[in-house]
Amino acid sequence: MNEVINTKSNSWLGLSDKVCVVTGAGSGIGAEVARQFATCGASVAILDVNEAAASLVASEIVDRGGRAIAVGADAGSQASMQQAACRVHHGLGPCNVLVNNAAVRNRSALIGIDLAAWSRVLEVNLTGALICSQAFVPHMIEAGKGGSLVHVASLVGYHPQPDGGAYSVSKAGMMMLSRLLSIELAPHRIRSNVVAPGFTRTPATEAAYDHAETAAARIAMIPAGRAATPTDLADVILFIASERASYINGQDLLVDGGFTNTLMTTVPKLPQKEST
Ligand SMILES: NC(=O)c1ccc[n+]([C@@H]2O[C@H](COP(=O)([O-])OP(=O)(O)OC[C@H]3O[C@@H](n4cnc5c(N)ncnc54)[C@H](O)[C@@H]3O)[C@@H](O)[C@H]2O)c1
Repeated sequence: MNEVINTKSNSWLGLSDKVCVVTGAGSGIGAEVARQFATCGASVAILDVNEAAASLVASEIVDRGGRAIAVGADAGSQASMQQAACRVHHGLGPCNVLVNNAAVRNRSALIGIDLAAWSRVLEVNLTGALICSQAFVPHMIEAGKGGSLVHVASLVGYHPQPDGGAYSVSKAGMMMLSRLLSIELAPHRIRSNVVAPGFTRTPATEAAYDHAETAAARIAMIPAGRAATPTDLADVILFIASERASYINGQDLLVDGGFTNTLMTTVPKLPQKEST
């Protein structure tokens, strides 16, 4: 049986009276972010296009004594998100924190990519972050208490991932969207920041870590010596979402275990002269 939630463990974040909305929270990083918000005593709205998955995470939180509701909603649909925002507002109150985490991936080279597949990735990952912000930010503004948006981008928003279809483009766009929102919403004391995960072990990436050779080769490239866990990401996302980070606005935080600083280690070098 799961432990009862101890809200004191994360009290320093000051999230206990907040309403926190997480999209794509039925799995992986989003589910862990939702659980961690609940451990802070926050009321959590678990949004996912997979309603059954969202309900499982919500039930787990409620069974442990936390406050959570599950809402089936498509981040890429304005109508669906507007409905979800109304349900959250009536069920929990005005949103204080929105984590735009829902994403889809596809595998394709760009020349010859099916435009429907290209568009769907942009619709969920990039336009979806705007759609969700449009749905929840008016409630934040109306409540007049400020707020925080955290957009979950990716290492591949900085570094192109070939054969990944529109995924890298969507995450790069999300970073600029966040920066623009940070300026637009600053007068309302609403911050907008990006957390960009590196290699993270979740149901979406599990196959690579179940394949021993691929996993070992991947992990050998990461200075931290391991892939990230959803908890590694949730810890950072909660901090950025909280008032403890109240002076951080319009920033991108890469959480990659040091991976992207290793470029120079891959440069071939002359053999070392043997010491005499
Ligand atoms: N796992 C990694 O290595 C990694 C690396 C970099 C960035 N990320 C980013 O982290 C975030 C979470 O990834 P994850 O690995 O936990 O993925 P995941 O596949 O485990 O979870 C994603 C969740 O999003 C939901 N979802 C998909 N489309 C949706 C939509 N239209 N509306 C609402 N929900 C939708 C899915 O149903 C799923 O529950 C994503 O934004 C992803 O791009 C992950």
